[in-house]
Amino acid sequence: MDQNSERYLVSSALPYANGPLHVGQIVGAYLPADAFVRYLRMRGEDVVYVCGTDEHGVPITLTAEREGKDPKEVVDYWWSHMKETFERFGISFDNFSRTSTPLHAKNTQLFYRKLKECGYISEAESKQMYSPTEGRFLPDRYVEGTCPVCGYKEARGDQCDNCGSWYEAYELIEPHSKVTGGPAEVRETTHLYLDLPKFSDRLRAYVAGQEHWRTSVKNFILGIIDGGLEKRPITRDIQWGVPVPEPGFEDKRFYVWFDACIGYISSTMEWAENVGEPDRWREYWQEPETRLIHFIGKDNTVFHALVWPALLMGTGEDGEEPYALPYDVPANEFMNLEVVVDGERRAMQMSTSRNLAVWLHEALDRFPADPLRFYLASNLPETGDVVFSWREFQGRVNSDLIGNLGNYINRVLSFTEKYADGQASRPEELPESGLAVLEDFKELERRYEERMLAPKPREALGELLAMGRRANRFFDASAPWKTRKEDPERTRLTLYVCSVLLGSLAYHAAPYVPEAVERLQGFFTGPILRVSDLEKLPEGYRVTGAKPLFQRIEDEEVAAVEEQLSRAVRG
Ligand code: 2FM
Ligand code: ZN
Repeated sequence: MDQNSERYLVSSALPYANGPLHVGQIVGAYLPADAFVRYLRMRGEDVVYVCGTDEHGVPITLTAEREGKDPKEVVDYWWSHMKETFERFGISFDNFSRTSTPLHAKNTQLFYRKLKECGYISEAESKQMYSPTEGRFLPDRYVEGTCPVCGYKEARGDQCDNCGSWYEAYELIEPHSKVTGGPAEVRETTHLYLDLPKFSDRLRAYVAGQEHWRTSVKNFILGIIDGGLEKRPITRDIQWGVPVPEPGFEDKRFYVWFDACIGYISSTMEWAENVGEPDRWREYWQEPETRLIHFIGKDNTVFHALVWPALLMGTGEDGEEPYALPYDVPANEFMNLEVVVDGERRAMQMSTSRNLAVWLHEALDRFPADPLRFYLASNLPETGDVVFSWREFQGRVNSDLIGNLGNYINRVLSFTEKYADGQASRPEELPESGLAVLEDFKELERRYEERMLAPKPREALGELLAMGRRANRFFDASAPWKTRKEDPERTRLTLYVCSVLLGSLAYHAAPYVPEAVERLQGFFTGPILRVSDLEKLPEGYRVTGAKPLFQRIEDEEVAAVEEQLSRAVRG
């Protein structure tokens, strides 16, 4: 590894293993992280990228009960499904683990013991709904009743969908179990609590010092700290989850958000084991120089930018090597869907229960990964909510991916193959216009890198398109189709410069369309490098058997997928 390189541990939020992945999740935590990591790897940085499924918690047990299955069956199925879907989409995790492993249970219990030893855990009684017929406590999502504020009859356990009020489940009128419909009553129960208020000052100083964080994330967390933190329960009255190593807690499990982020460490340990260096995970978690970066959707912000740093701080005081704190928590906003309803285009919120979503595995059954990645990357919710539109997918792929980048690549390759014997070799000297375009590229590459490392891969993609336009302009202005007969030497110079630009375009496109760039290397031989990194101009390039890298998206294909969404709305 080069001496100036940095060390990174990058994670994408662990998705709940209870259903297929949709594009909203992909633009939040996976595609931006993957593009970022792919770029870091190309730059020669030391990076490990981890993920895995989040297999505990009420979302899983609810799915299992609805389907009459054991939670284990549910998570096994979805772990494989997700792993395969991520692979098909080209998400390049170094390790994709899961939180139901014995290693992860051990790590979670270790975190608990360390926190307890350092005085951050207490016990308290609270009220919880109980179902006498089922003989168990009911998590909030299992309870329904009449809203104490507006009288709505099907109010949920923690919130009323009719008037938006928030309350405790025991405040509901005539509460009952959502599973059996039987009555629910209030009982006292004991839980373990994390003493978050003890971390307030340290958390404030830590968050306030993060100059490079997105202001939305930083201000949101500082607002919560200033509003006053409360102790948070870290156990639940359920049977599915990591067991609590305390007498009297045999029937309880850790709350899913207590163990979820620890899953990043467990996944890194599994990776280290797999590469045959079991202790190497420590380089990524216990050395403060490592940049720990968690990509998430904004609904996960509080857990990653507040609770998780507190857990890491609180486990670092027992005399053993402390954990490093997150360097950045890039949280992305949400993605809505454009749906055609009665001939009109409307932006609607995704609804997984109504099947109003674009499921990634289904999208991949219809289109290759690269055009989907390209469109989604051009529409990442980096600064505000965005809308997914199949029509826009078609437009961006046909005009930007194919019309700009693909067009340039095709023109250069087919011209070189047809009229220059598939060769572009280094000339003695470059023309003025060639030197100028190379200089422009260096500036565009700098802008791209700054944005990619921010990390703002959507903005970086904008710079890639600017490179494509600049390269096309150079090709047009040099007009090799005209000079070919009257000035072959000039044509040779043009094609050589075009190949250098092509190498740079491919380098910068690879984080977004990795499969196409791999294919390109099958018929374009020569360095895929940044112009800024070329110590001297490469000797030459060869082209043999070039084929177009991308296919246009046709109207009928768009009509079919749009119809599928319209059907979901019609119900
Ligand atoms: O919101 C979710 O899908 C959670 N499963 C994310 C967990 S992220 C991390 F903590 F594991
Ligand atoms: Zn209400």
